[in-house]
Amino acid sequence: MELLRFSAFWCGTILFGSILLEEAEASMMDIKRLCKFCDVKATSCIGKGSCKVECDRTAICPDHNEVCVTIWRQKDDNITFDTVCHNPAEQLYGLFLEDYNNSKCEMKEKKGMGSRFFICSCDDDECNENVIFSQDIYSQVVAVILVSLVPLLVLTVVIITSFYCYRVYRQRQAQSKCKKGPLLDYSEGRAIMINEEVSESSSTHANNLNHNNELLPIELDVMVGKGRFAEVHKAKLKQGSSVSEEQAFETVAVKIFPDEEYASWKNEKDIFSDADLRHENVLHFLTAEERKGQRQYWLITAYHPLGNLQEYLSHHIITWHDLWLLGSSLTRGVAHLHSDRTPCGRYKVPIAHRDIKSSNILVKKDLTCCLCDFGLALRLDNSLSVDELANSGQVGTARYMAPEVLESRINLENIESFKQADVYSMALVLWEIISRCSAIGEVKEYEPPFGNLREHPCVESMKDSVLRDKGRPEIPNSWTNHTGIQMVCASIEDCWDHDPEARLTAQCIAERFSEVEYLDKLSDCSDSEEKIPEEIIVVDEK
Ligand code: ADE
Repeated sequence: MELLRFSAFWCGTILFGSILLEEAEASMMDIKRLCKFCDVKATSCIGKGSCKVECDRTAICPDHNEVCVTIWRQKDDNITFDTVCHNPAEQLYGLFLEDYNNSKCEMKEKKGMGSRFFICSCDDDECNENVIFSQDIYSQVVAVILVSLVPLLVLTVVIITSFYCYRVYRQRQAQSKCKKGPLLDYSEGRAIMINEEVSESSSTHANNLNHNNELLPIELDVMVGKGRFAEVHKAKLKQGSSVSEEQAFETVAVKIFPDEEYASWKNEKDIFSDADLRHENVLHFLTAEERKGQRQYWLITAYHPLGNLQEYLSHHIITWHDLWLLGSSLTRGVAHLHSDRTPCGRYKVPIAHRDIKSSNILVKKDLTCCLCDFGLALRLDNSLSVDELANSGQVGTARYMAPEVLESRINLENIESFKQADVYSMALVLWEIISRCSAIGEVKEYEPPFGNLREHPCVESMKDSVLRDKGRPEIPNSWTNHTGIQMVCASIEDCWDHDPEARLTAQCIAERFSEVEYLDKLSDCSDSEEKIPEEIIVVDEK
């Protein structure tokens, strides 16, 4: 009985509960939506961002299934909002509502409605009062791309601009270091002149390829030099047509290229053939000959008995005055080569030497230098072919190669890059000259720059020293006790900078040399002490 009563109680409870649930559900279904309901109303909303429909009528939707809807339309200048209640099960303007299970009314554009047409639906009270116009997917993608790209673009522009400014700053710094002193006056006797080693008559042969079947009457003497491509001989150029036993002659140098080195001969001949190259600090060229019978190609030039600078420095300790003569003439020679003006101011093609080293510089009797060996030189004009440029990456002698040449990263598009690489090599030669000057104190045996490396270091070992270890020849403190040498050392450091753009120009160093000469002259005037000549070890002339 007890059991019967207990089960009757629980059945009653369950039945009562389910009735309550059904009623609650039914009343839930009966909740009617409150929506903005103005039908069509003009608006100033332009269909972008978010807008308020400005409808002051709120209606209780008649059917409990209905949701709130807003439609935005634009036909010509007529822009309207429609605010209505609508049952999503039915079509509205031929469309089924999407996204109505949403508390916000997010506008979607519908095409093919005869006007610009946006619709949104939502199921919260008065949710169709505030509408949000979302862009189409294409505009969204564009917006996302723009938003993510703009900072990247700004960053790139900032980086490029800062890099550019830094470059300009470095260049200006390099230029400002080159304090404008009295300009070199090439017109006063330093300009193009006939080399003292050869006479006027022989110099008339200059800059011509001797096509004559009659070759110059030359008698070869000893070999005075041997390079990669050619041998250089001291030679006698017979004068006049005298048949007397003691025929007059002039001493000349003959550079002899074997058949296989035709390209090198041709390049050097073409460089020399430019009359504008003539300068007292550039080897004086007489003529070129094709000695077909001997399968040889010749270049005939002035002869300099003191030989090349490397040989000279190996056998001589020099004074500050000698240093000045050698250094200033070297820089003037390089400046002339690089210049796009002749000493008279006419346009000339700038030339890069590309193999500046002490063995490619000759010492003249007055202890000034002249540049020689133009086998690798490059005319920096528009005639440069793509091939020539492409083969220009890494040429020269590894020991003297600038960091960017060692790395084959020379900027081929900028002709200044070739000059900057020459300036680096020139700095090493200036260092060699100082290293043999008595004014620095104790003078050691001659050593080439990076003398710790083997005789002909390869590009890889030079890369280790110059690029990896950022090494440069040592400039001991004692070298800077002399004011003149101090200037040369400071210039050298500016010329072997890792950054080619930061290097000074040869012209700038030439000007600095002429400024110290001027200071020297001033101090000579006020200095009553007699100068004791420095000891010079002289070796026999060749
Ligand atoms: N070695 C190379 N060229 C020379 C020249 N012109 N005179 C003397 N020695 C040289």
